[in-house]
Amino acid sequence: MMPRDASAVPSAIPEGVVSLIDHEQHARRMLSEAVLAYFDGGAADEITLRANVRAWQDIELLPRVMRQLSGGHTRVNLLGRELAHPILIAPMAYQQLAHPHGEQATALAAAALGAGLVLSTQASTLLEDVARAVLPDAGRGPLWFQLYLLPDRSFMRTLVLRAEAAGFEALVLTVDAPVQGARDRERRTGFRRPADIVAVNLAGRVAPPARLLQAGQSALFDDLMTHAPTWDDVAWLQSITRLPILLKGVVHPDDARQALACGAAGLVVSNHGGRTLDTMPSTASLLPRVVEAVDGGIPVLVDGGIRRGTDVLKAMALGASAVLVGRPVLHGLANAGAQGVAHVLRLLRDELEIAMALTGCRTLAEAPGALATASAEKKA
Ligand code: FNR
Ligand code: LAC
Repeated sequence: MMPRDASAVPSAIPEGVVSLIDHEQHARRMLSEAVLAYFDGGAADEITLRANVRAWQDIELLPRVMRQLSGGHTRVNLLGRELAHPILIAPMAYQQLAHPHGEQATALAAAALGAGLVLSTQASTLLEDVARAVLPDAGRGPLWFQLYLLPDRSFMRTLVLRAEAAGFEALVLTVDAPVQGARDRERRTGFRRPADIVAVNLAGRVAPPARLLQAGQSALFDDLMTHAPTWDDVAWLQSITRLPILLKGVVHPDDARQALACGAAGLVVSNHGGRTLDTMPSTASLLPRVVEAVDGGIPVLVDGGIRRGTDVLKAMALGASAVLVGRPVLHGLANAGAQGVAHVLRLLRDELEIAMALTGCRTLAEAPGALATASAEKKA
């Protein structure tokens, strides 16, 4: 719901904020320590969280000069659609924690900037309301719904049918978080979700009764993990929906091949933004192996640590079909609502165009040639 006094909520880009990093720093002034711990924190020692950002930074670009670049563009094809650019918003829970307009603001900004939107299962806004905000915009990007496998299968079936009926175009099953990581930063600050910010799309689901554990049994393995997704569940999901299903959080080449074999429509190489298993490799280092494993069979997207247009170019150079951006969107949202999210997307896209022009890439298909390693390999 929109608050009645719109002037009471942040809606203007703060002065001096000209990059995603600036947005991140400014958001520290807008949010409580506990919400920041939830948004910006990662698992355990946050090694993967930092590695994600650093890995993109560490990849070097080697420009080609004086090429004919007129008519250049950032367009890509994804799941049968042409997109203005390859940037999507990653699924992120409870966006009303960042701003009272929450997912509604994020969705409007995504549509206005032609970015894709992946709505989280744990959104704090009804999926139908988000779809209504996005679908009328002719220039919008793809609209996808993220799923966690829920033990209540009949509820899950209803949720999937609702997403289908509302106009979502694909499902993204997140497979890397059957249990939360050890979120030390959150626990240190005592983060608790306020009672009025809830996963509204999950209202009415039935939680499975807690199992009576025998001595020596584990609450994790003998209860929680008995409901965790398996490959059979992907087949079940395919049997109840006509929507394409992407798997988010596949990082091992063997799992990527299995996903391809079982008919997944695409993969998102992700370590959940360093929020689940700490000391996983960065997504920049995982991406090429997954791209190689699926060998062009299905699109491979990537997320984690993308903060610059040069990062987007590098991801595309390593074989990504598109990228998802997480936390910077929450920072933009906290700083200036829909305007802030639009600003973040605009900055990233402008930076991508600049990076393409400066490396001599007319289209993103030419991105691999922008890597410093590409010319080193050619010489060898
Ligand atoms: C997430 N992420 C996430 N992923 C998912 O599949 N479902 C979800 O509900 C959430 N929720 C969520 C909340 C918050 C606060 C964050 C920061 C992240 C993970 C997200 O989709 C994505 O994988 C990472 O955020 C990407 O990394 P960057 O761009 O944040 O570094
Ligand atoms: C998170 C869950 C919601 O990362 O995916 O917070």
